[in-house]
Amino acid sequence: MLSQETRTIIKSTVPVLEEHGTAITTVFYKNMFEAHPELLNIFNHANQKQGRQQAALANTVYAAAVHIDNLEAILPAIVQISNKHVSLGIKPEHYPIVGEYLLKGIKEVLGDAATDEIIHAWAETYGVIADAFIGVEKDMYENMETQENGWSFFKDFTIARKEKESENITSFYLKPVDGKNVPSYQPGQYISVRMSIPGEQYLFNRQYSLSQAAQEDEFRISVKRDADNDPNGRVSVYLHDEMNVGDRFEVSAPAGEFVLDTEKTTPVAFVSGGVGITPMMSMFETVATLTPERPTAFLHATRNESMHAFDKDIQKSVAAMDNASYKTLYSDQPQGYITHAVLEEYVDITGDVYVCGPVPFMEAMIQQLQALGMKEEQIHFEFFGPAVALQTV
Ligand code: HEM
Repeated sequence: MLSQETRTIIKSTVPVLEEHGTAITTVFYKNMFEAHPELLNIFNHANQKQGRQQAALANTVYAAAVHIDNLEAILPAIVQISNKHVSLGIKPEHYPIVGEYLLKGIKEVLGDAATDEIIHAWAETYGVIADAFIGVEKDMYENMETQENGWSFFKDFTIARKEKESENITSFYLKPVDGKNVPSYQPGQYISVRMSIPGEQYLFNRQYSLSQAAQEDEFRISVKRDADNDPNGRVSVYLHDEMNVGDRFEVSAPAGEFVLDTEKTTPVAFVSGGVGITPMMSMFETVATLTPERPTAFLHATRNESMHAFDKDIQKSVAAMDNASYKTLYSDQPQGYITHAVLEEYVDITGDVYVCGPVPFMEAMIQQLQALGMKEEQIHFEFFGPAVALQTV
């Protein structure tokens, strides 16, 4: 239990730390990677360059500290982040390293203002927060290991098939090298891929949504090729240009919380922008297979016909379903957007809607769906990239 004194110090210093947020986290990561360069095999180097992950991790520690009396209240947020952590193979022994360099960052930036008392209070509080994450992650790893054909951390997979879906999206069908089947997963979950790229010092990790309904013997990911000069695009470009059938890389077991509730038979709508279509494919195929009578709408926005992935697959499933509709809009064309009117026409607002795409697209969709009268609990979404803020706090 933290003492009342510690709690008081924490609450009074959170605003100061937030104010110096960028400075502290920049120092924190710089020092941590200097002392532990092996962690660059885990962290996304592009996020580091753009400063996005810096903000996410430290802000979450501060936000959690505010709720230190009742961490239960932010358990959903912890679980969401822990999904990402277990997908990346974060281990308990990593936590003290992050704690040490976060505290050193606070000390370095705040100088004398960070008294021993303050540093001690934060060390104690970080320990409590870290234990909460470690506990949640331990259970997740155990579940992964005990699931049929499951595993924890990474395992070798090979590319069994590579199929172009559109001008810039290609699917990779992946099978375990050990010849085993793959575990079942919930539609909407993702895996991490980990690979070494020739000429690069550290391993690269990326998360990709599984893009088909669960199959016994393979996973499928569908990857958008980023621009050559996009720092975040290193893996996607390598996959598209250099990786072929028979090539191998490591894969972690499915994780993630943005999943379809397969028990429901009430109306459901999928709304995707660009490569945000990938988790929708897994969800939609699952509905088409398990509950084809479920009233279903699929709305997709993409730039033009050549960028349009999975069109035939969706059309085929829609034709075989009892009550499904499908519309795609091309933003290169006039009125090529999913507007309020389009949502009103296709989405049954008594049901659930799943949204995935670039952040501005999602913000617009969520706003419009709310304007149509849908409640928060009916609208499910997942942002790409690191969560910039702890949404439930
Ligand atoms: C991602 C918080 C500890 C490695 C994240 C995210 C948050 C976060 C908010 C973004 C989640 C998302 O993308 O949806 C925390 C907190 C920690 C903690 C509060 C301590 C209590 C650690 C540790 C490690 C770690 C100990 C490993 C040394 C990562 C990595 C990512 C991540 C690699 C993915 C993003 C990237 O690669 O840039 N964490 N984290 N975290 N975390 Fe943690």
